Amino acid sequence: MIVSAMLEQRPDLHVTMTDIAPNIGSFIDPKFLDRVMLHPATTAKSVAGTGRSFNAITIADVLHHVPADARSMFWSDLREICRDTGCRTIIVKDVCPGTLRGFLSLMCDRYITGDRHVTLIRPDDMIADIKHIFQTDAVDISHSEPDKANYCLVVNLK
Ligand SMILES: C[S@@+](CC[C@H](N)C(=O)[O-])C[C@H]1O[C@@H](n2cnc3c(N)ncnc32)[C@H](O)[C@@H]1O
Repeated sequence: MIVSAMLEQRPDLHVTMTDIAPNIGSFIDPKFLDRVMLHPATTAKSVAGTGRSFNAITIADVLHHVPADARSMFWSDLREICRDTGCRTIIVKDVCPGTLRGFLSLMCDRYITGDRHVTLIRPDDMIADIKHIFQTDAVDISHSEPDKANYCLVVNLK
């Protein structure tokens, strides 16, 4: 949905989508598919070392699926991808714990999708993780929550 919204707003954008899942992109409006390159069953890190560059990397509803003890490695990989691809902007969309809507989303992930690793992350904890990996002085982070419990962080690398 986020990809379709961005492509609707910005006709100049092209998207490269990676995911470790074998089937991806099913929520993209078919009218935008000619502007989306899908890489299923692929780690994000595989884009590093290919000579490609990106204006922005969007991570939508992924972090809460990454097991808590693997999140630090996820961010380290992302730091490497940003260095390699020249990307200076990361947009993170995730779900905040502590609301009924967030709780229902967590239960859906755990018991309908069946991902027992899911744990929701508070925006402040996500921001602390990002600052820890990228160094506090090297990032500007803005946080918005226009559709609680969904939140969005925009991370600008200096
Ligand atoms: C709720 S879906 C969101 C999919 C897509 N980003 C979107 O917004 O429609 C969560 C996705 O996170 C992916 N995922 C989980 N752990 C991951 C990891 N370590 N690296 C990359 N993707 C991961 C899953 O395969 C799943 O497709």
